[in-house]
Amino acid sequence: MSYVLSLDAGTTSVRAIVFDHDGQIKSVAQKEIRQIYPKPGWVEHDPQEIWFSQISVAVEALGRARIRPSDVAAVGITNQRETTVVWDRHTGDAICNAIVWQDRRTAGMCDEIRAAGHEKMIQQRTGLLIDAYFSATKVAWMLENVPGARKKAEAGDLLFGTVDTWLVWKLTSGKNAHVTDPSNASRTMLYNIQTGEWDKKLCKLFNVPLSMLPEVRSSSEVYGEISTSLGLQGVPVAGIAGDQQAALFGQMCVKTGLSKNTYGTGCFLLQNIGTTPVASKQRLLTTVAWQLGKKREFALEGSVFIGGAVVQWLRDGLQLVRSAQEVDMLAASVQDSGGVFLVPAFAGLGAPHWDAYARGTIVGLTRDTSAAHIARAALEGVAFQIADLMDAIVADTGKKLPELRVDGGASKSEPLMQFQADLLGVPVVRPVVTETTALGAAYLAGLAVGFWKDTGEISHQWQIDKTFEPKMPRARVQELRERWNEALKRAQGWER
Ligand code: G3P
Repeated sequence: MSYVLSLDAGTTSVRAIVFDHDGQIKSVAQKEIRQIYPKPGWVEHDPQEIWFSQISVAVEALGRARIRPSDVAAVGITNQRETTVVWDRHTGDAICNAIVWQDRRTAGMCDEIRAAGHEKMIQQRTGLLIDAYFSATKVAWMLENVPGARKKAEAGDLLFGTVDTWLVWKLTSGKNAHVTDPSNASRTMLYNIQTGEWDKKLCKLFNVPLSMLPEVRSSSEVYGEISTSLGLQGVPVAGIAGDQQAALFGQMCVKTGLSKNTYGTGCFLLQNIGTTPVASKQRLLTTVAWQLGKKREFALEGSVFIGGAVVQWLRDGLQLVRSAQEVDMLAASVQDSGGVFLVPAFAGLGAPHWDAYARGTIVGLTRDTSAAHIARAALEGVAFQIADLMDAIVADTGKKLPELRVDGGASKSEPLMQFQADLLGVPVVRPVVTETTALGAAYLAGLAVGFWKDTGEISHQWQIDKTFEPKMPRARVQELRERWNEALKRAQGWER
């Protein structure tokens, strides 16, 4: 058995990637999934579509690599986190669409919980700040709003899961393992990162029956085998991690102090902080990075809701370009943004602002503003958000980062990476394999079945493709960041 298959259920697409023993990609298959926007600020996915698309890309990836299920040592799962699925344990049918992490419908519920004075207690137990981003209020919303759901949940007939749980339950049909791992559990606002268990007090606060919650297992162990009817018969499912934590692992940030940023739909800057969960004073999140055996490791996380998605918006929303590559070309065709600042707060602002009511803003337009300036301002808006996160991490830990490792689709953008290095004033390092999310999940699964011996064996597989050195004078950086802060203020609190 020479391969590991990674299933990466992301926000905009699902992917399947086959990795060989050297951590090299053998094949990839990908399918976009439908984004459903029933109302402004609401974002949903069809759970059945996620499942069918995921299994179809898995079969396609094996076909492309010309390998049989018996060549696959293990399957690892990684996923968009927080997105909430609730289904009937008897029929396997979801009771409604999945509520996606970006969805803001429970912002009011969060205001009430905050006003009732629970913020400190919640941060202490979960490492999270009260926000509609996390799963707890999404489950509560479903139980209150889907007819009959509350009654069924109380009777023990409904199950909750993030997307990892949903997929493992489906993959192991017949036996139906109902499991998750601590990296995903720690994004629900129902899991106590200090004790490593579901928190009864929080379940009571959010009115979520404990019987709905999956069993929390480690991030690297066999949870079950894939059912025979799926074309992947008998392959063990052996690794689970939320996509950002999986990327941290795939970037080999396995030592305290190492950090990565993933430029996916959103952007997520994570720093490994070791085995003690320290609460952030800068409104960052403390989250479980992974659990290997009994050892849980933690990360500080800055989450930005719109990263690469701004490129998608330029393409599909504004129809300014036809492809993501065109954005780069357009942005590179001008020296700077011509004084234009674009704050991509389309889904509110995440860390460190946590403003569910912020909305996207463009300021500084003049008669000679061109599409190129707007494209450049869009990319720069992503980089400014990461610089704000980096400041918060440095303030929290008291240590300057030596470098930032980057991955995800938009890490391919040269103008974005150069501007990022300029703003941060530290090298931005892009590895050869930028599919680090899928790679991290593959590593976790492969380690569980002995395909790889230990992290020592895989750590040398991480290789640098390109390092972007900072070039911009610091005075200019300072000036730009001050203007960005002004633009940010204009975006905040817009939606009431
Ligand atoms: O917390 C949300 C995150 O897991 C989504 O990741 O890569 O789909 O933007 P991505």
